[in-house]
Amino acid sequence: MRKILALILVGVMLTATLIMVGCGGAQSTTSSNEKSIKVGVSMPTKSLQRWNQDGSNMEAKLKEKGYQVDLQFAENKVETQVSQIENMITKGAKVIVVGAIDGSALSSVLDEAKSAGCAIIAYDRLIMNTDAVNAYATFDNFSVGKIQGQYIEEKLGLKEGKGPYNFEIATGPLDDNNVVYFFNGAMEVLKPYIDKGQLVVKSGQVTREQCATPNWDEAKAQERMDNIITASYTSNKIDAVLCSNDSTSLGVQSALKSAGYGSADKPMPIVTGQDANIANVKAIVSGQQAMSVFKDTRALADQVVKMVEAMVNKQEPEVNDTTTYNNGKKVIPSFLCKPQFVDKSNYKTLLIDSGYYKESDLK
Ligand code: BGC
Repeated sequence: MRKILALILVGVMLTATLIMVGCGGAQSTTSSNEKSIKVGVSMPTKSLQRWNQDGSNMEAKLKEKGYQVDLQFAENKVETQVSQIENMITKGAKVIVVGAIDGSALSSVLDEAKSAGCAIIAYDRLIMNTDAVNAYATFDNFSVGKIQGQYIEEKLGLKEGKGPYNFEIATGPLDDNNVVYFFNGAMEVLKPYIDKGQLVVKSGQVTREQCATPNWDEAKAQERMDNIITASYTSNKIDAVLCSNDSTSLGVQSALKSAGYGSADKPMPIVTGQDANIANVKAIVSGQQAMSVFKDTRALADQVVKMVEAMVNKQEPEVNDTTTYNNGKKVIPSFLCKPQFVDKSNYKTLLIDSGYYKESDLK
């Protein structure tokens, strides 16, 4: 009897073990299907159109390749971005793509990533003072500034010696490394005309620090331009404003409109921008903003996906610049996509025919 009982017991145990092994097996097959490699995407904010677009482009393209994507937006708060990245590391991300809010505030969290064997791609903005960044994917930021400067140069006929024109500048925050390039690119073209007196900056504000807009905030750009208009332009008119991006541009346009610009006897000055956001393309079509710089975020996302694939396969990512972007610790191998100017003359080809926007988006 005891033998029979023992046999039954062994039988029960064996069956249970088989079931458990079976579950384990089933579990690991399911998880190896579902558990593709994890990639974190940490974007600075949802408050600007471009980052939403960047985030969703990358998410879609990475998912197409079978990656599991953790996409987070940090609402321009550095602590939020740090804790979102920490979370991605804990959850086992193999690669994290980071559009930094403050390029100098991520050294310690990226050290954690490095120790955890997680590769880092700096997205659009360089991350400073850390050797944990493996690659950088961005647009040619110096060219962005140069394109804006050349647009003003051409429209005002500065090469032909025209002027003097009144000119002001609104650039981005001091903690975004891109701003150095945007500003320097534009000033390489425009500074000689300031020096020659063809461009006159009545506010006297010409350095990157003086022309900064914290957080790229539209309202702050507006307030600063309101003050400049009140202080320096009661009896003169402004002919051109270099705005480093579309949010600063909208702020400046609001200040100009409140001061009566945009009418037949006081036309809008030439106002630049960057990103070709929908609100700004509408402003271009209606003649309030002269131009923007189109950075096709689809091209950037494609490049980042290629970088992720290379890193996952322990290969060197494709880059086209190994000299420009020194982050204080090392020169980061970079891929620079090409920016293009967009204005009323070419927006249809560039933005609509290419499928970037639908015609109805611009209504
Ligand atoms: C980006 C611009 C953007 C700005 C504000 C910069 O770092 O390169 O495209 O307009 O941030 O978000």
